[in-house]
Amino acid sequence: GFHVEIRRGAQKVAEEVAGRIIAALRVRPALTLGLPTGSTAMPVHAALVAAHREGRVSFARCDVFAVDEYLGLEASDARSYARFLRDHLVSHIDLPAAQFHVPDGLASDPSEEADRFAQSLAQRGGFDLLFLGLGANGHLAFNEPGSPRDARTRYVQLDESTLAANSRFFRNSNEQPTEAITIGLAEIMEARQVIVAATGESKARAVAAIRNSQPVSVCPAGILNGHPNACLIIDEAAGGS
Ligand code: GLP
Repeated sequence: GFHVEIRRGAQKVAEEVAGRIIAALRVRPALTLGLPTGSTAMPVHAALVAAHREGRVSFARCDVFAVDEYLGLEASDARSYARFLRDHLVSHIDLPAAQFHVPDGLASDPSEEADRFAQSLAQRGGFDLLFLGLGANGHLAFNEPGSPRDARTRYVQLDESTLAANSRFFRNSNEQPTEAITIGLAEIMEARQVIVAATGESKARAVAAIRNSQPVSVCPAGILNGHPNACLIIDEAAGGS
């Protein structure tokens, strides 16, 4: 099932997640690793960069897949997830460019781009380790409530609540993408190991929905209650205390 662990504060949560990623890379240097963006992920990326700088971890043989990307932003746009991962992680580590995979948010045919991305993930055997954040509405990557369990990487419309939660990154709403490419719940369930991190009281409702086994159609992250090797690492605020 979904194993829940509580740490004291966002920094301790991030250190725990980074420690597990580093441990997995030591066991299997050619790891296929899935990584999210966002405020929960940021201190994890920082801890990975610090560990790399100290010579404690190498990414030279692994493949990193972004779990989602907005449609309509250039990869160089400061708000794209490609740029986020580049700025916070990839440009500071020894990951070869060809081993960094992000859906192309400007692809003329987003469904075709989603299929291409899914294929390159499948070619590397799917995720060995998948780290994810948690949406306030219970989403994983951009699998919003109502996402089918068997969905693979695809082109999706974002929920109003997700647009509101992420509007802080955009000066005005007409600049904010309303569509994205995301990995699917099927690929998430196929990952050998999944780590979800959630911090702060804005995530308490989603964490409670997972712990109370709300239907997956209501809280997508609850699907991991049925995963053999998934853990949810939270701070006290996300745990509701
Ligand atoms: C965003 C992203 C997710 C991310 C989640 C949580 O909308 N699409 O991949 O994990 O929401 O983000 P944050 O950690 O900033 O709360």
